[in-house]
Amino acid sequence: MKIKSLSIKNFRNYQDNSFNFDPKINVILGPNGIGKTNILEAIYVLTHGKSWKSQYDLDLINHDAEVANIKANISRENKEQDELFVGIQKGMGNRSQKTYKVNNVSKSLSTFSRSLNSVLFSPQDLEIIIGSPSKRRHFLNESLSQTDEKYAKEILKLKKIVTARNRLLKRINEGISGYNELEYWNQQLIESSNYIHEKRKIFITQINEFIGEKFSLISNSNAVAKITYDHSIASEQRLQEYKIAEIASKRTLVGAQKDDLLIELKKIDRFTDARYFASRGEQRTLVLVLKLASLKYIQQKLKIKIILLLDDIYSELDETHRSAIAEYFNENQVIITTAEKDLIPQNILSNSRMLNLEKKRVI
Ligand SMILES: Nc1ncnc2c1ncn2[C@@H]1O[C@H](COP(=O)(O)OP(=O)(O)OP(=O)(O)O)[C@@H](O)[C@H]1O
Ligand SMILES: [Mg+2]
Repeated sequence: MKIKSLSIKNFRNYQDNSFNFDPKINVILGPNGIGKTNILEAIYVLTHGKSWKSQYDLDLINHDAEVANIKANISRENKEQDELFVGIQKGMGNRSQKTYKVNNVSKSLSTFSRSLNSVLFSPQDLEIIIGSPSKRRHFLNESLSQTDEKYAKEILKLKKIVTARNRLLKRINEGISGYNELEYWNQQLIESSNYIHEKRKIFITQINEFIGEKFSLISNSNAVAKITYDHSIASEQRLQEYKIAEIASKRTLVGAQKDDLLIELKKIDRFTDARYFASRGEQRTLVLVLKLASLKYIQQKLKIKIILLLDDIYSELDETHRSAIAEYFNENQVIITTAEKDLIPQNILSNSRMLNLEKKRVI
């Protein structure tokens, strides 16, 4: 899969700009703050329907505009070219409305999120190791939503179930509603969580072997990495156990929205939590390995090569890490951003298309 061109209107700091990409390596060059990451973010929105950076879609719209558009032409092996479109329109308060189209036909988010496949590598990925559990769930969702439409739907459904349940818990807490009114939402929570657990379990089992081997290889040591799924079961029994706590806190305390991953490293004879015991360098290696695992999983599932988005990673990675990524440059389309040309190895530069943003009037 390749992205041929991208047009963005009123997206972040862009007014109306178009970019053509080489089927192989592309380097987006420009000083800090010019809009390099914003281009990758637009491609990310075409992949996932939303950004990894902002809680509100509204942030994606240029401060001086009401509507933002992202358009791209995509080619897949043995398939007609597709035109993808995401429109974001300002609403009331923090609200906004999004529309998704493939070849001018409207799509739901879960269908749309299978239209373009990419994996993003960014310095903020370190959050997967050191950040809150939501960052680790996001890592799981990024891989699974691209390969499994039902999973993507179920994640959206779970979000609605939890919101509705929390609203009702608040009413129960205030004495306006009775606990039996939760029955319907309890069943929904159990069903949805069970489905998501099942899929996450399979994903984690599949990537674990790769993670173990790749970590030792890249770190050039006997250290072993592994991830363990810490899932929050939603069952009648657990909901009973948490009944009082849930009413008191007005929040849903069990279910897949509370899942986490334990990411561990074994140096000599014991596994320790990478969040607290791994060095910063080891944490970076772990993130890289997790992302490569995600890439491999998506490619195996979809049986296609997908797009690599590398946001400013050359300033952070040493030679071993760079070569671990470079092995994908022969087969995948790659889009790299950098503020300093010299950070990119010469053999990559000489084989790439350069998009120099300094030469382009962005605003
Ligand atoms: N909604 C918005 N409207 C207008 N400008 C915005 C909006 N959101 C972000 N920006 C601006 O976009 C600019 C470019 O951001 P971006 O993160 O893409 O820069 P960058 O080239 O990746 O920089 P760096 O090299 O520092 O990573 C920022 O200066 C930011 O203020
Ligand atoms: Mg940037």
